[in-house]
Amino acid sequence: MSTPVLHVQHLVKQFGEFVAVNDISFDIKPGEILGLLGPNGAGKTTTIQMLLGLVTPTAGSIQMFGLDLATDREAILQQVNFSSTYVSMPQALTVEENLWVIARLYGLSQIQQRVDGIVKRFEMGDFRHKVTRKLSSGQSTRLGLAKAFLTEPKILFLDEPTASLDPDIAQKIRSFLKEERRSSGLSVLYTSHNMHEMEEMTDRIIFLQKGKIVAEGTAQEIVARFGQTDLEEVFVKLAREE
Ligand SMILES: Nc1ncnc2c1ncn2[C@@H]1O[C@H](COP(=O)(O)OP(=O)(O)OP(=O)(O)O)[C@@H](O)[C@H]1O
Ligand SMILES: [Mg+2]
Repeated sequence: MSTPVLHVQHLVKQFGEFVAVNDISFDIKPGEILGLLGPNGAGKTTTIQMLLGLVTPTAGSIQMFGLDLATDREAILQQVNFSSTYVSMPQALTVEENLWVIARLYGLSQIQQRVDGIVKRFEMGDFRHKVTRKLSSGQSTRLGLAKAFLTEPKILFLDEPTASLDPDIAQKIRSFLKEERRSSGLSVLYTSHNMHEMEEMTDRIIFLQKGKIVAEGTAQEIVARFGQTDLEEVFVKLAREE
């Protein structure tokens, strides 16, 4: 058994009296794509924010690469990146400038070469000199993904990465992600409300509901366990149960 790249134990987040994440534990193995599934408000984004060190857990521990996020934050975050459809980059900078800022923040070398490579991969040549404020939502999502891949992370947190993409680009991004995983052993935590995408992309799924893990396994295992025909049916069944 390989050591997990991410090891989460008894993670809790309370906002006042409200418990958004309620004692969850899970691992991600090297090269694994783990899906985080659950209805609106289940605690997915809050969990990702804790993994990124942006929100302080109320209780529990987060380890990555064998280090503790509470004490080795900088060393860990150097090897981590994320993308969220709902977090935008500085609006007054151009696409290319934003990528440069990220590259500098991570202390990367050969920046222009890397930026050119990522712009090409994400087909952003047409808008690389555009100011970020003027991007369409799909273009802005691509920029978010490009900055996430630019730093060649060992673990990537993707919060609804394809939510605003057209089907063609979404499919390209999915293939790119699979290829990265194959070639570099990238590990990914992935959220999406697209159940077909979850089935296609993930090795394993954690189903969160009201901050608790209510199901865990491969998409097929979860579908079989709940006696449904696909993940969408399981989702609707679980989401409607109190
Ligand atoms: N800063 C905050 N203060 C108070 N409550 C919060 C805060 N952030 C999140 N919450 C609450 O925590 C719960 C979980 O929110 P979260 O954003 O993690 O859900 P989610 O699973 O990502 O949902 P979605 O599918 O809608 O993105 C929600 O009820 C939300 O209102
Ligand atoms: Mg969310």
